[in-house]
Amino acid sequence: VSDEIPAWLPTSRFHPGIVGSAERRGLLGQAGITVWLTGLSASGKSTIACALEQHLLHLKKFTYILDGDNIRSGLNKGLKFSEADRNENIRRIGEVSKLFADACAITIVSFISPYKTDRQSARQLHEDAGIPFVEVFVDAPLSVVEIRDPKGLYKKARAGEIKDFTGISAPYEAPDAPEIHIRTDELSVEDSVLEITRYLEDHQYL
Ligand code: PPS
Repeated sequence: VSDEIPAWLPTSRFHPGIVGSAERRGLLGQAGITVWLTGLSASGKSTIACALEQHLLHLKKFTYILDGDNIRSGLNKGLKFSEADRNENIRRIGEVSKLFADACAITIVSFISPYKTDRQSARQLHEDAGIPFVEVFVDAPLSVVEIRDPKGLYKKARAGEIKDFTGISAPYEAPDAPEIHIRTDELSVEDSVLEITRYLEDHQYL
């Protein structure tokens, strides 16, 4: 089977549904949004994502988490941690989160997403589709996450057993102007959730 797309097949044809995005939002009574959590391993992304999801679901908001560890065991199985594979990981998750948000979900993305350009591309994709994109920098110093080290990965990275480990032997480019900046070495999980929720309410996203 050839990988080549036959010349007669249009490569980029978008088939619109009968119900457009705006009508969908009106019918479901909820607008989608992507809340994009970025930060080092063990910075607290998944913990905050889960607590935020729980909080929003209890407010009866259709909410769903896309988490790096989970997505890498399914959709993105096979991608590793080279720069190119991380680019592809985040490119796909930018697309998937846009689809979830277009389906009116409050979509919580929890990936290290270490490269500014990849996060910017995900943001652009959303903005082009008229979907709000809220970047949350889940920030904890390397010295703190190394002590937390819940999976023992920093220890292995320091010992050279894991290569290309973010913060040790691979870069993490912190956001310059995230919508929300949470310092998890100072703020509790509950207060982090409240801060994000308050932002979403203040901007009429909920
Ligand atoms: S990325 O950079 O956005 O593509 O990473 P992500 O998809 O979020 O996956 C991060 C989780 O993978 C585990 N892991 C590593 N992280 C960073 N660098 C290397 N080399 C690596 N190898 C495995 C790690 O458990 C990350 O999970 P979190 O939840 O962030 O701690």
